[in-house]
Amino acid sequence: MTARIIDGNALAARVRGEIADRAAALSARGVQPCLAVLLVGVDPASAVYVRNKVAACEKAGIRSLRFDYPQDVAQADVMAKLAELNADPSVHGILVQLPLPPQFDEAAVLEAISVAKDVDGFHAENVGRLSQNQEAFLPCTPHGVMKMLESVDVKLAGAEAVVIGRSNIVGKPMAMLLTNAGATVTVCHSRTRDLAFHTRRADILVAAVGKPRFVTGDMVKPGAVVIDVGINRLQNGPDEGKLCGDVDFASASEVAGAITPVPGGVGPMTITMLLENTVISADRAARAVGK
Ligand code: GUN
Repeated sequence: MTARIIDGNALAARVRGEIADRAAALSARGVQPCLAVLLVGVDPASAVYVRNKVAACEKAGIRSLRFDYPQDVAQADVMAKLAELNADPSVHGILVQLPLPPQFDEAAVLEAISVAKDVDGFHAENVGRLSQNQEAFLPCTPHGVMKMLESVDVKLAGAEAVVIGRSNIVGKPMAMLLTNAGATVTVCHSRTRDLAFHTRRADILVAAVGKPRFVTGDMVKPGAVVIDVGINRLQNGPDEGKLCGDVDFASASEVAGAITPVPGGVGPMTITMLLENTVISADRAARAVGK
């Protein structure tokens, strides 16, 4: 069997077209959607992600504000900027790129972002709302994965879903979204005994481990939908310097029914959902002032 490829670039392009139309309509009503992005420190991957987010805003007609801070900045300086952005009615979304340097209390920073502008969905209140299946800003990567699953019409209710990874950014919210959709969800992680026992039972397998080509074809149930959230740069071997996912695409795509590639899979959808959340927030702000 050779898996169907779930093309994140194509899906993202379609959704971003709709988002750009909504952003243009809001701008015509006098409210241009605006996202503020804060980047602290020198993490090279974070710098690339932030650059891509700002560029995607521009393409969609969303204004972006970018604030860069040195690695040794005091948390109070970042908190002061967040207070200013929270109070600024022209700003609709606020994002602090993670990870933060070690002197930061990450939870405190995330909770300093206004719940109404938390377009990353990382504020404890939004996380709590998601866990109760109430309306909330959804974290962008797992939300993008749900859109990809929708795009291949996979039935979630009653499906066995296995998520590898328990991070606050991907694994845990992914498990909550799949649970809310009626899947039977197993969360695996570095302490899981006999990982393959679990993964081989999965109708839907989501890999968010951060280890290149970690999930191999022998760990995949024939016909499963495999979603690869990993973005790793290979350090050695013949493909040194190339990007690859957490899934060994060559072997897994021989077994799976559908699979996301890396690059061109989940990555473009993550940014797309960020743009969508920003437009949703701007729309609420416009309505609140009668525009
Ligand atoms: N770091 C890795 N992924 C993300 C994300 O989706 N949002 C933020 N703010 N930081 C991240």
